[in-house]
Amino acid sequence: MVAGRLAAVLGAALVVIGAPAGAAAAGENAAAESAPTFNADVGPILYENCASCHRAGQVAPMALTSYEEARPWARAIRTKVVAREMPPWFADPRFGQFKDVTALSQEDVDTIAAWVDGGAPEGAGPAPDAPEFASDWLHERPPDFVLEMPIDVEVPAQGEIEYLSVWAENPFEEDVFLEAVQMRPGNPAVVHHAGIFTRELPPGTRLGQDRVRPGGQLIPMPVPINPYEDPAVKLARREAARVFVEDAQLIFYRPGGGFNRFPEGTAKLVYAERALEFQMHYTLTGRPETDRSAAAFWFARERPRRRMITVGSGEHGGTGQVRIVESEEQLELQAGSGFTRTPNIPPHAGDFRVTGIWPVLDDVTLYGVWPHMHFRGKDMTYIVSYPDGTEETLLHVPNYDFNWQIEYDFVEPLKVPAGSTLKTIGHFDNSIRNRYNPSPDREVFWGEQSWDEMFFIFTKYTIDKEDLGKRTSN
Ligand code: HEC
Repeated sequence: MVAGRLAAVLGAALVVIGAPAGAAAAGENAAAESAPTFNADVGPILYENCASCHRAGQVAPMALTSYEEARPWARAIRTKVVAREMPPWFADPRFGQFKDVTALSQEDVDTIAAWVDGGAPEGAGPAPDAPEFASDWLHERPPDFVLEMPIDVEVPAQGEIEYLSVWAENPFEEDVFLEAVQMRPGNPAVVHHAGIFTRELPPGTRLGQDRVRPGGQLIPMPVPINPYEDPAVKLARREAARVFVEDAQLIFYRPGGGFNRFPEGTAKLVYAERALEFQMHYTLTGRPETDRSAAAFWFARERPRRRMITVGSGEHGGTGQVRIVESEEQLELQAGSGFTRTPNIPPHAGDFRVTGIWPVLDDVTLYGVWPHMHFRGKDMTYIVSYPDGTEETLLHVPNYDFNWQIEYDFVEPLKVPAGSTLKTIGHFDNSIRNRYNPSPDREVFWGEQSWDEMFFIFTKYTIDKEDLGKRTSN
């Protein structure tokens, strides 16, 4: 629709160019008049592509839901869309075909640029219909179960807020299969991104008994291994890491996201024995805020054949993955443990390379990927090598930006046969050239805080031979 309008505008411009020379002055006027207008051309683009974040109460700094709101930002809008910094989308378009691409088409970018260059006019026609956003849950029927975080989280006005884990008891007594799941922020202005994970807690752990407060951070987080750390803590973390790699991610939220409906025959499993972790990454608004986010569950009506599994590709441990750091394979900490320690990123290292290799042992089908690094993340590439030696790049993110945690779901699920390998290749920039780097002089540990680092591509997949229908116990 928008493209059609632009074509009409260009058509008008051609008529002007083709007009007799004597009409030059009038022609210039007509050219200005034929610049795209907000009402006819640009409004609909902004409503469709920007307003999900740029509207009242959401995470973006200003609303773009009317001409009056958008006009003062015209220059900034032009700059951001031409640089392709807005809307956020970082996949190299040469590789992979993804659903819900939020990148603007070149036509839309050109329309916005021409609108700004033409004085950002409102246009004579009627204003486009204001965008509407579902305030309800997104699946086609009401949820079967809604779980809120057990506490309100107080988000301070200013300062620095660490990511937070808020734990909830698993509300289900037995394994539950979900056909859809959604996470919804209680206060969308402060929830930058978040995830819900299911985790098996160490035996004897009870929720709400640990350091911070009821419902607060409970177990030491997985992955980070600090060489100066107490050995007992280290061991506990390694134990926790085992949980981490095993299909822990239930749903991930970012503005405009947070809803997953699983393809027919598949379902997300909420394992009965695991607790639920709301992992919250907040942003500050300058005012004290509170948030109580929630998740909705829709139970599968029929028993699915396969689990939709989410595992971090590039991780070490659990799934038999190997990590290579700066050309050196990382050896297991303890023979047979499956756990390695990734060396820290040295101060000022500008191109620190980490590769994860995941031997695919069963025929699997891949559905989507979510690359994850922190402030020092520079780029990521995901490659499948098939048993016949051919390779295919599934995703390439040349300029990784921690601010934007984007999930890329494949248009067509991808069959990957046993005997293939999945390679996750990434670089970190701990130098001063990285504008997000808070402290280039520091050695960077592996950990969950944004100033520590992580490295993986969460991969959603099913195992082709799995047939849950065959299980006799039900
Ligand atoms: C997924 C959410 C999201 C979408 C979609 C989005 N933005 Fe943004 N935008 C943000 C956030 C958050 C910021 C502030 C942080 C930043 O600059 O990265 C921002 C910042 C901006 C800024 C800079 C504001 C300033 O203070 O200088 C402009 C301009 C902008 N967006 C325009 C757009 C336009 C135009 C679109 C659509 C074509 C769009 N954005 C789509 C979330 C979004």
